[in-house]
Formats: sequence, C-alpha cells, structure tokens
Amino acid sequence: MNVIQGVAELRDALRGQDRIAFVPTMGSLHAGHLALMHKARAHGAPVVASIFVNPLQFGANEDFDRYPRTLQDDIAALRAQNVVDILFAPTVPEMYPEPQGFRVQPPDGLGNILEGEVRPGFFGGVATVVLKLLSCVQPRVAVFGKKDYQQWLVVRAMCRQFALPTEIVACETTREPDGLAMSSRNRYLDAGERAEAPRLYRELAALRERIHAGARDFPSLEAQAANALAAAGWQPEYVAIRRQADLARPGDEDAPLVALAAARLGTTRLIDNVEI
Ligand code: PAJ
Repeated sequence: MNVIQGVAELRDALRGQDRIAFVPTMGSLHAGHLALMHKARAHGAPVVASIFVNPLQFGANEDFDRYPRTLQDDIAALRAQNVVDILFAPTVPEMYPEPQGFRVQPPDGLGNILEGEVRPGFFGGVATVVLKLLSCVQPRVAVFGKKDYQQWLVVRAMCRQFALPTEIVACETTREPDGLAMSSRNRYLDAGERAEAPRLYRELAALRERIHAGARDFPSLEAQAANALAAAGWQPEYVAIRRQADLARPGDEDAPLVALAAARLGTTRLIDNVEI
C-alpha cells in the first residue's frame, strides 16, 4: 500500500487507470470501513481509500478538534488487510490550499431535513469534500455506507445531477455483536454508555417489526421510539420513518421505508437506521 499526501503525487500514481474503486473516510478505521474497502475491491482496481477529517463538515460546536485521529494505526490495519492499493491522506492545507469559496449546495428537501436540519451546513461540507475527492481520484466506482443513509443519498443525487462518471455503490451497515452500528465516535462512550448504546438499534428494529405487523400510524410510532430512548436517559434528536428513495414522509401505501434516528447519549451523538 502506497501512502500519498499530495494531490499531484496522487494524480501521478493513478495516471492511465480507468477502473479505480474509491472509499472516502475520516479514518479511525473500524470493521465497517474495512467492509467498504472489500466491497470496493470487488468493483474495481486499484482500490484507493482516503483519510481526511474534513473541517468543512463540522459545525462550530461540533467535535472537529477531538475527532479521533489514528493515522499510524489505520495504516497498520490497512496493511494487515491488504485490501487498499493507495491511501490518500492529505493535510488540511493540501486539500484546501486557499479558502474553499466554491461550495456544493445540497437541495432543500434532502439536504436540510433530519441530519441536515440538526447539523446546518453538514451536507454542504460533505458534498464539497466528496466532489473534490472524486475530482482528485476520478474513480469509476465509489463506495459509501448505509450507516450514514442520508449522506449516501445526498452523494448519489449529487453525482447524478452533476453527471459525474462515478457510480455510487452502497454497503450494508456493519454492527457489533450486540447490534450497535460501528462508528468512529463509539470510542467516546464510557463503559456504562457502551452497554446502553445498542438500545438505539433495538428501538429501530422494534419499529420495523411493528410496521411489518401492520402498524401505519407513523407519527405515533416515531414518538413511541423517541419516548423509549428519553426514558432510558438519551436525548433523542429525531426518530423518523421515511421513504427510502428520497426520505420524504410516507403515505399509507408507500414502500420501501427506512427508520432513521439520531440521539445523544451523554455527550456522544449516535445515528442509526434500519430499512423496512
Ligand atoms: P466516516 O464517518 O469515516 O465514514 C466513511 C464511510 O464509512 C462512510 O461511507 C460511512 O457511511 C461508512 N461507514 C461508517 N461506519 C459504518 C458502518 N458501521 N457500516 C458501514 N459503513 C460505515 O462519512 C464520512 O466519514 C465522511 O462524511 C466522508 C464521506 C468521508 C466525507 O468527509
């Protein structure tokens, strides 16, 4: 695995390749990230991964400064897996040598609901860095995780609307044995919170079962799940049952659906979702 910091060096290393498969990450790698890289390997070569904690997608009161940065461990894990050919790990000045005045503005309706409502500017920051990374890597395929469901839909819509030549492939969520979705932010949890954390997935899975059993009063189902989280000491931000295709509110006959949630446990913000 070749570790590259600079954009010019990356372009040199990739010159002439037309089957590149790409996995963008912010590092602090876990098995969920590695599953994306294995999926990328099945879709093309060489496999390029990136590690870049993107300041543009963090709000002023968010965790940019304390976001875990474990580059040496990440490189060792990738070398042990032998699944990535090139790791692009730019510095902030390398990615943003001048102020990033041009930004991608995600559309209302997908960009400013749910995560986009709680975290204003988040999807603009994500879309901008993903567009820039796609421009640097020029992959045929890029792999995103369904763990960040709305992010996957935003990126997919951006590529479609800008006619980018990259196909966006989704990868299922990798979970711990107790159901907790793997996340770099799980390392913020103390032992008590870690034991409580799988409740988020359990509540979403319970919603799925109720809907499979015929329940259709979505606002009341959402409220039940949010109340259950609050009763267990969480601060829920949203629990939402939406259409998979565009995250719009479903009518009675709409399918397929997805239940999405974001909630704080102590100071840690967790998100998860289940397809229905
Ligand atoms: P990051 O949180 O590091 O996630 C990188 C990719 O891994 C994303 O596509 C995310 O959905 C996926 N992922 C994370 N945890 C997962 C899990 N448990 N199962 C499956 N996939 C999982 O998402 C970002 O970084 C950034 O916003 C980025 C797209 C890199 C832009 O900065």
